[in-house]
Formats: sequence, C-alpha cells, structure tokens
Amino acid sequence: MKRRRAEKLAALGQLTAGIAHEINNPLAGMLNCVKTMQEEPDNIDLQKRYLALLHKGLKRIELTMRQLLNYGRAAPLRIHQANIDTIILDCLELLEHRLRDIVVNLDLRFNEPCCIDSEVVKQIVMNITLNAIQAMPKGGSLTIASREENGAMVLTIEDSGTGIGAEIQDRIFDPFFTTKEVGEGTGLGLAVTLAMVQRLNGRIDVHSRTDAGTTFIVALPVDRQCLSPTDSTPDSTTTQQGNMHATDSAG
Ligand SMILES: Nc1ncnc2c1ncn2[C@@H]1O[C@H](COP(=O)(O)OP(=O)(O)OP(=O)(O)O)[C@@H](O)[C@H]1O
Ligand SMILES: [Mg+2]
Repeated sequence: MKRRRAEKLAALGQLTAGIAHEINNPLAGMLNCVKTMQEEPDNIDLQKRYLALLHKGLKRIELTMRQLLNYGRAAPLRIHQANIDTIILDCLELLEHRLRDIVVNLDLRFNEPCCIDSEVVKQIVMNITLNAIQAMPKGGSLTIASREENGAMVLTIEDSGTGIGAEIQDRIFDPFFTTKEVGEGTGLGLAVTLAMVQRLNGRIDVHSRTDAGTTFIVALPVDRQCLSPTDSTPDSTTTQQGNMHATDSAG
C-alpha cells in the first residue's frame, strides 16, 4: 500500500516537473520578448520579429496543454461503426508530406466496419506512425498491417529507423519522456497512446532493436454490435470503460 502511494507520488512529481519544464521554457523566452519589445517600442522590425516569437511560444504551450488534456481526458468514448483500414489510410494522407523518403508498405486485412471510437483510434495510429517517421530522418520503410486475431483487431506499425535502446525501452510510455530536441517533442505521444489503448481495453507491445527498427503492435477487442442496447445504430454515442490490459514489453 505504502509503496503504491510512494510510486504514485513519484509519478505525480515527474508529471508536474514535466509540465513545469514544458511551460517554463517557452514562457521564459516570451517574457524576454515582451521586455525587449517594451524597450524598443518604435522598432517596427523588432516588434514584428518578436511578435512572431511570442506567437510561436504561445502555440507551443497550447499544444502541451491540448496533449495533457487528452491524457487526462475522461470524456465518454464515441463508439460507432467505422473501418480501421480506412482510418489508417486517412492518417497516411494527413502525414503524406512527411513520407517523401519513406517507402510505405500496406497489408490491410481488417477490411470491415466494427464498433470503435474512430477519433481515438486515429490518434493512436497518428502518434505511433509519427514516431516511426521521426525515427527515419534519412528515409526507410514503414509497414502498416491490420488483421483479426483471436477476437482482436491487431494493428502493426513497423519502421526501419533508429530503434529504441534497451536502456530506455521501459520509459517510453512515461509522460514527458522524450529523446527529441526541445521544441520537437514533448514526450506525451506514447503516454497518451497507452492511456487511450487502455480505455479501449486493448494492449500495446513494442519490439525494437537499435539501428534496425521498431515495431509497435496494438490489439483492440473487436466489437461488431456496438454492444450497448440503446446504441445499435451507426454514429451514436456510448461510454465504454473497462479493465486495463496494456503492457509495454521490450523485445
Ligand atoms: N518508432 C520509434 N523509433 C525510435 N524511437 C521511438 C519510436 N517511438 C518512440 N520512440 C522513443 O520514445 C520516446 C517517447 O515517444 P513519445 O511519442 O511519447 O514522445 P515524443 O515523440 O518524443 O514527443 P511527442 O510525441 O510528444 O511529440 C521518443 O522520444 C523516442 O525516443
Ligand atoms: Mg511522439
């Protein structure tokens, strides 16, 4: 009991430190901007440049807050009939401008609608795929597959990128854990992803080898009837919450 409490407090401390860091960094820059702008009110050129910097800082804080709200989001799931393969294709379209040097292989075999929250699934796919793309700055191959296995919808996203060192594999799902440059990653993507997979009663596994690449496997239970009795029509809303089965195994 005591240990669990200590673990929770440590996690809270880490989260708070992460938030403080993500907000304080742009804030310090923005305060500096304002000070300089006040010192040179007639320097139009400087005012313009610094206003753009202020805007950038505010956008960064806004992004951090949005991701944090997603992370703690208790909003009801919006379960409706949707096709996971279509969601994957939608995500790839959104990411198209980042895929220039990357060969994309698709093996989509779950080609039928089932009951999911398409926005949540889209975020899961986006976060993992974006990481995969970022892990291949010089290009490489991205393979996305979907299939049904033991009553679960299994989604595999594989890249040929940098891989994840064994020493950090058990930290990648921690909020604010990032190896990216300041301003490039907040370290919330996988924390949000894990929280979402857990809300959908699914699990997420990762296998990675340094310099060889990484594979994320997400398994979500298949529900074809949008179970709630009042909720059998497409596009209606229901709340589904349940047990957590997520793991983050390293392989
Ligand atoms: N496919 C991947 N290949 C290599 N490293 C990865 C991969 N996916 C995740 N990582 C590692 O896990 C860390 C955490 O990922 P996460 O998505 O949570 O945060 P981020 O990408 O750094 O920032 P954010 O997602 O908030 O922009 C990354 O910084 C990176 O070190
Ligand atoms: Mg990320």
